[in-house]
Amino acid sequence: MKRAVIIEGDGIGPEVIASAVQVLEAVSPGLEMVEGCMGLQCHTRTGSYLPQSTIDLLNDSDAALFGAITSPADRADYRSPLLSLRKSMDLYANIRPVKRLHPSVGLVDLDVVIVRENTEGMYTGEEREVPGGIVTERKVTEYACRRIVDKAIELCRADGGKKVTCVHKSNVLRRSDGLFREVFLDRMKGSGLEASELLVDAAAAALVSQPRKLDFLVTLNLYGDILSDEAAALAGGLGFAPSVNLGEKFALFEPTHGSAPDIAGMDLANPTAAILSAAMMLRYLGSGNAADRVEKAVPAALEQGIRTRDAGGSLGTREFTRRYLEVLSSC
Ligand code: NAD
Ligand code: IPM
Ligand code: MN
Repeated sequence: MKRAVIIEGDGIGPEVIASAVQVLEAVSPGLEMVEGCMGLQCHTRTGSYLPQSTIDLLNDSDAALFGAITSPADRADYRSPLLSLRKSMDLYANIRPVKRLHPSVGLVDLDVVIVRENTEGMYTGEEREVPGGIVTERKVTEYACRRIVDKAIELCRADGGKKVTCVHKSNVLRRSDGLFREVFLDRMKGSGLEASELLVDAAAAALVSQPRKLDFLVTLNLYGDILSDEAAALAGGLGFAPSVNLGEKFALFEPTHGSAPDIAGMDLANPTAAILSAAMMLRYLGSGNAADRVEKAVPAALEQGIRTRDAGGSLGTREFTRRYLEVLSSC
């Protein structure tokens, strides 16, 4: 039996994860789910943002589904436990498929997969004081570039794609992003796929103006973070964007969105991103049919007007979930 750790987190995390868990129970009754804790509420309860008990559970399970956590605004020494996990569990690939799921949502007909390097770049956590300011260390290694480019090639091939676009800023960051670009061009040789490239500012524009020209994007950590929120907003909103933090031995699935404190506890959150993250987890765990059903039910529900407020509807998170589950039962 496969085992998944369920981590609700903060803000809307518990609300969207409650929906995703109901979906998992409906389509995959054999999946064992165990609860772990992480984040601000967890810190209040246990004194730790990421207790050893959660790390032990993760090491002892096949995958994890995570909601979102709130970063404390006022602590210079805080490092997100999510970033610590990505690093310590070597979850080096952050894969964020972004697709408009119904013509009535979003602004742009996007269907892209953002393959984001997840362990270095601007996310080293190394910042030091210098006279008059702060210097941040940004790291780009050949090893990490090769791994993420190879993952993008693998995903593109598996999906029947033809082209991978490297998104960088090597016109300014000539050595670091230049290295990423060189590794990309080198690994793409003989891949049978077309190698394309865009500077990150132009990529941000192309998501809006030339969406159908983009399919698989491979990029560095911070660019991937920003572009995935932009792409999600264009395709229908953060409430629809799932993701996975993927390593060789483990994967942690999570919506792209954060804890949304502005709507937390109000039964307003769209749980679709969490539900689609759960579907990605099911596929990873070998339950492809169940994953297909969960994914198919999303546009079917939208078509029937089953929508939360962000998608132009009026259903609360709980009522949306109840109605979505009805649609799912006939998918
Ligand atoms: P956010 O993604 O939480 O919210 C941005 C906007 O999108 C808000 O207006 C919010 O209401 C809306 N939104 C997000 N998810 C939604 C959903 N499912 N349904 C409907 N509307 C939704 O980003 P933020 O406000 O910049 O960050 C809030 C907190 O979350 C911060 O503490 C940040 O550090 C944290 N954060 C955590 C994660 C994570 O844990 N993976 C990711 C991003 C941000
Ligand atoms: C994300 C989030 C995280 C990131 C934050 C919460 C550390 O924005 O997963 O997109 O920047 O990677
Ligand atoms: Mn983000």
